[in-house]
Amino acid sequence: APAAEESGSLSGRRVLITAGPTREPLDPVRYLTNHSTGKMGYAIASAAAAMGAETKLVSGPVELGAPSGVTRIDVETAQEMFEAVMSDLNFDIIIMTAAVADYRPKAVASQKIKKVEGDLALELTRNPDILYEVGKVKNKQILIGFAAETEKVLEHAEAKLRKKNLDMIVANDVTVKGAGFGSDTNVVTFITADGEQTAYDQMGKADVAKAILKKAVSLLP
Ligand code: CTP
Ligand code: CA
Repeated sequence: APAAEESGSLSGRRVLITAGPTREPLDPVRYLTNHSTGKMGYAIASAAAAMGAETKLVSGPVELGAPSGVTRIDVETAQEMFEAVMSDLNFDIIIMTAAVADYRPKAVASQKIKKVEGDLALELTRNPDILYEVGKVKNKQILIGFAAETEKVLEHAEAKLRKKNLDMIVANDVTVKGAGFGSDTNVVTFITADGEQTAYDQMGKADVAKAILKKAVSLLP
């Protein structure tokens, strides 16, 4: 539970969160996806609701239940997630944690693909970059992204912050122990649009969530 002074700090505010992986179908029985479990995004949604926000969670397929007080919209593909997000951008704070598939199979076979002799090449096409598209049209919303990186973590994260017109990015070195997919902890650095960097030691995802929301509240206009 949040500290007493934090419990109402988002009352009257609307918070939107994306979480989980997306699932990109190839044929009626197969899809492309990734190892995201949704834990970080769900922890943020849970904390936002506990801090009094009207909280919407647009979620790819995960094993987690909706946190109490949170409105969850279930989606499968990146395109569905894009549409669910774009349908309403009237939020004070938007935080995108989803591991959106960058590509989807160019054609979805209507029947199960049969194996052939030799190799099979898959043709992939780009999915929309949801965070980038929101960054293009945002006005007063505080927009926060995540960057899960394996090398040049802060450099890549800051480039994403600029390119996607974010107020803050949460940089995440997924090669560090206690920070990878499915972990209950994370090791993060916040980078804000003014260039300020704050590095944290390993924390539980609930504490990372509270730290992100506390920073987001401080950035509100
Ligand atoms: N993101 C998104 N839509 C996409 C891809 C990414 O909304 N199609 C968001 C993620 O939710 C995350 C941020 O953008 O908040 C960064 O995602 P990441 O995969 O690290 O960056 P990309 O821009 O996709 O670059 P790359 O995968 O090439 O490193
Ligand atoms: Ca990506």
